[in-house]
Amino acid sequence: MAFPITRLRRLRYDKILRNMVSETHLSVNDLVYPLFVCPGEGVKKPISSMPGNYQMSIDVLVETCKLAVSKGVKSILLFGIPESKDEHGHVGCSHNGIVQQALRAIKTEIEDIQLIADVCNCEYTTHGHCGTIVDGDVDNDLTIETLAKQAVSLAEAGADVIAPSDMMDGRVGRIRTALDEAGYIKTPIMSYAAKYASGFYGPFREAAESAPQFGDRSTYQMNPANSDEALREVAADIEEGADIVMVKPALSYLDVIYRIKNEFKMPTAAYNVSGEFSMVKAAGEKNWIDEQRVMMEVLLSIKRAGADIIITYHALDAADILNNN
Ligand code: PBG
Repeated sequence: MAFPITRLRRLRYDKILRNMVSETHLSVNDLVYPLFVCPGEGVKKPISSMPGNYQMSIDVLVETCKLAVSKGVKSILLFGIPESKDEHGHVGCSHNGIVQQALRAIKTEIEDIQLIADVCNCEYTTHGHCGTIVDGDVDNDLTIETLAKQAVSLAEAGADVIAPSDMMDGRVGRIRTALDEAGYIKTPIMSYAAKYASGFYGPFREAAESAPQFGDRSTYQMNPANSDEALREVAADIEEGADIVMVKPALSYLDVIYRIKNEFKMPTAAYNVSGEFSMVKAAGEKNWIDEQRVMMEVLLSIKRAGADIIITYHALDAADILNNN
């Protein structure tokens, strides 16, 4: 039916009706809040390029988790800044590693929370790359051994979900086998399946002190030009046992989220990464955009593209808005 019988604006005049015919809904249940834990006590060190985010010692971290849960954000993604680093990232596999300690502390103090542990070596290696260096490049098959150890150690410490972010080939399968052999058959893997070599990770590397000391990550993370390859990455991870697949970053890759959700119909996560967050914050601080409005629009667009789960530094601010509606 054409105009004037059809008038698409008819459904837009009334707010209640607008909400009723809204096709996409954001919920606090969709949100995962990333946090950075460091050694010490009473430490809450601001991350300058990510306003409102901090490196936190375990005591402060536990309080922040309680605050998140009180707002309905019950899923936390943990990153660690260790006391010391080594060439292979072995400190990340230690029973007394910073993230392992944090997991135990949160689990003792908070019941209704889900802890996702990022699995990667870049926070734990002296050179800042995501694995063991052989002949100037990250050695795939040596690295997945360290990752498997780290994953088991994190599961032992209380991680509810294991999230490998390294982009080595075969790591999901290797981690799945290691978890199963250690008895963690019920622990899901959320794989960073399509993770791009992106400039949007800049602020995170300040936060996690994980910038590569030479070269970049383009021999292991994906080329931003590719999306067919993203489907192959996701297919491989599902084949190897991934329970949830992730696209990262989110905003410049909404097409990839859309294709992956359509093709695989898997639980799909998207990481609204540090640079995406910081751009909104910076423009908001200058009053060049309405920060809260843009934040909600960004999160909604990621959901509309097909993501079921959104990992975002905006989680608590978004929860405040969602809880008030
Ligand atoms: C570790 C890792 C990174 C991010 C999450 N896990 C950084 C990187 O790959 O360099 C980035 C997250 C963000 O920018 O918010 N490999």
